[in-house]
Amino acid sequence: MTEQTTKRLGASAADIAEAARLLRAGKLVGMPTETVYGLAANALDNAAVLRIFEAKGRPADNPLIVHISDIGQWQALVTGIPPVARRLAEAFWPGPLTVILPRSEIVPPAVSAGLDTVAVRFPVHPVARALIDACGFPLAAPSGNRSGSPSPTTARHMLDDMDGRIAAVIDGGECQVGVESTVVSLTGDVPRVLRPGGITPEQICVVAGAAAVDEAVLNPLGKTAVAASPGMKYKHYAPRARVSLVRADGRRFAEFVNAQPRDGLMPMGFGGEEGDPAVPYLTYGRRDQSDRQAQRLFDALRELDARGATRALVSAPDPEGVGLAVYNRLLRAAGFEVIDLA
Ligand code: TXA
Ligand code: MG
Repeated sequence: MTEQTTKRLGASAADIAEAARLLRAGKLVGMPTETVYGLAANALDNAAVLRIFEAKGRPADNPLIVHISDIGQWQALVTGIPPVARRLAEAFWPGPLTVILPRSEIVPPAVSAGLDTVAVRFPVHPVARALIDACGFPLAAPSGNRSGSPSPTTARHMLDDMDGRIAAVIDGGECQVGVESTVVSLTGDVPRVLRPGGITPEQICVVAGAAAVDEAVLNPLGKTAVAASPGMKYKHYAPRARVSLVRADGRRFAEFVNAQPRDGLMPMGFGGEEGDPAVPYLTYGRRDQSDRQAQRLFDALRELDARGATRALVSAPDPEGVGLAVYNRLLRAAGFEVIDLA
């Protein structure tokens, strides 16, 4: 990867036009979305898409999401749009939902990483939409972190991972949702949630009449199992510290933390439950605020590294609603290590 100067761009029309120029030239640009920052390239340019994998250090078998800014761009990317897909799009687009369908010929092989399907999302963030509009082509974009690290929810996070590796980053402020989109596959009989996110399985069920949650959302894949979503087989979202999830109420969590060796220890729990901490304490929202937990999650995981933590104990969130997405990301950050004190 050649060193380059990464331009800092804002959300002005001139800066968006500059970002679109870079993308047209096959370069990579960090873009804000409502979920997390993405690392964008022209989705119809195989060579540009391959640069994403290089910049992220992403395994070649992990496919990318294609972002559109007009429902009309969807048709050309897939072989057909079944009624259930239309209903989900009407209900949740633009927004944090990604829909998987069989792909058309125009999707370059690198985007789908060898699969015969393509993941498409119509983000609601005004800067992402303006950028795709200015390009006139859809943008392939994974989360803008280095592979395995927590996803970026600010332009600062993106630069921490990608400065010198990509052409530009557009600063569009802090992401509102804070965890990546819900990924739902429509290739089987029943819509299947492969990755939970801002749109819950319950919401999908109301619109689609049924919804299944893939086993890999809450369980490690067996060694021989094939991942429905290749991204689920990798350790993910992980700070350098060894992370364990702790299922306990606030008082029990604080007691457990205070009984551990102090060296490199960093607890991460809910606001209002700090008790009388014997060690510095990070918070990620209150126990009953899943939306806030989702917004705070990745910044808090990055903060563990910034503070030099080597051992992180994280108070487990309630896996309901958007909390399912928070729990899913933390399970992966912890390599599925859960200490059950509940
Ligand atoms: O919110 C988001 O979805 C963000 C923003 C930037 O839009 N993007 C994002 O992309 O999270 P990424 O690449 O970090 O995660 C995409 C996930 C991966 O787990 C990948 O394996 C899965 O979606 N995926 C993509 N295409 C797929 C396909 N055709 N079949 C199954 N899984 C797919
Ligand atoms: Mg990612």
